[in-house]
Amino acid sequence: MRIALLTVLLGLTSAVGAQKFHGLAQTPPMGWNSWNKFACNVSDSLVRSMADAMVSSGMKDAGYTYIIMDDCWHGTRDSLGFIRPNPVHFPNGIKALADYIHSKGLQFGIYSCAGNKTCAGHPGSRGHEYQDAVTYASWGVDYLKYDWCNTDGLSARGAYTTMRDALQTAGRPVVFSLCEWGTSKPWEWAGDVGHLWRTTGDIYNTFEGEVSHGDWSSWGVMAILDQQKGLEKYAGPGHWNDPDMLEVGNGMPVNEDRAHFSMWCMLAAPLIAGNDLGRMSRETRQILLNREVIAIDQDPLGIQGFQFDGPDDSLQVFAKPLTGGDLAVCFLNRNREPFSLTYDWKEKVIINEGTGTHLNLAASTYRIKNLWTGSDDGTTAAPLSAVIPGRDVLLLRLTRQPAN
Ligand code: GLA
Repeated sequence: MRIALLTVLLGLTSAVGAQKFHGLAQTPPMGWNSWNKFACNVSDSLVRSMADAMVSSGMKDAGYTYIIMDDCWHGTRDSLGFIRPNPVHFPNGIKALADYIHSKGLQFGIYSCAGNKTCAGHPGSRGHEYQDAVTYASWGVDYLKYDWCNTDGLSARGAYTTMRDALQTAGRPVVFSLCEWGTSKPWEWAGDVGHLWRTTGDIYNTFEGEVSHGDWSSWGVMAILDQQKGLEKYAGPGHWNDPDMLEVGNGMPVNEDRAHFSMWCMLAAPLIAGNDLGRMSRETRQILLNREVIAIDQDPLGIQGFQFDGPDDSLQVFAKPLTGGDLAVCFLNRNREPFSLTYDWKEKVIINEGTGTHLNLAASTYRIKNLWTGSDDGTTAAPLSAVIPGRDVLLLRLTRQPAN
């Protein structure tokens, strides 16, 4: 009898533990994160001002929800091991900051690390997972980005599962963002652990390139894009591949920013802006706030786009099936020179095993909308002719015409 009871209790405990919060991140999370632009210069006033700008710029209305404070907010642990923020930069404490963000109708995200120390050397959560999860819940945290520095000898799956269980036990629903850089292929095991997982090392604000930092590299936008190939089968509502945060507005030319944003939307990537929201150029605003492009990313089917064609090495063609039989098609010109394109839709068959896509474009005719110019560009009955500028995209939404 006792053994049976114990078994039931243990079963219950593990059943409770073996859960992430379901129903969150049904479309890729959208928000802002401090790291790409501000690195360790986070403070109460900076984060509040970004929340203000999220609202005044129209980004909140366009769907951006999370204000995420990355590394370096930390002070020390108290005598009982509870983490405290840096007292100089966060004189009001974190709960007051979270309350302010909530008062704007936004949600609040924070950063920690599975190791003893964060990547910037602040206290990590190792050995304090349950204590930190309870602390975050008491502060009103809605989103946790959980990094992977200083984790020698740890199993990624074990460490992330521990934090998932800690969050679940603390009881406040939290979007759990795994930042393990793809080393242990989290897409293969993290579907019931987190809501998104990084697939690569860090992004930096360049179109093409890799910068080595010794035992790790940061990557340009195209290098990150190339590392997403084949991962489309692992993405869907509640569980997303994360090719890292956006560099839009951080110094690349507008055409490169537009290509970067378009491709992240094609990938159903989390759209986490990484720029100074208080000082956006008109071009940056036009990119981050294009609702029809955002709608590609946020399409409720949650299918991650994939390359299906490329008439030339320099030009790649991506597709993303959308609700209602619509289709996003993105022509990406990776070279610096313009590309003159003639594209006969009726000859194209889109096949992708990972997403179960098999679409013969000869079978239907679609109306074409150019999502960056907003123009209606005819139908797929005739071949498409276009010149795509260097390092830019032609991003189209195809809507199936009713059969006669
Ligand atoms: C790692 C992560 C980055 C950022 C920094 C903070 O490099 O991949 O996104 O969070 O740590 O130190």
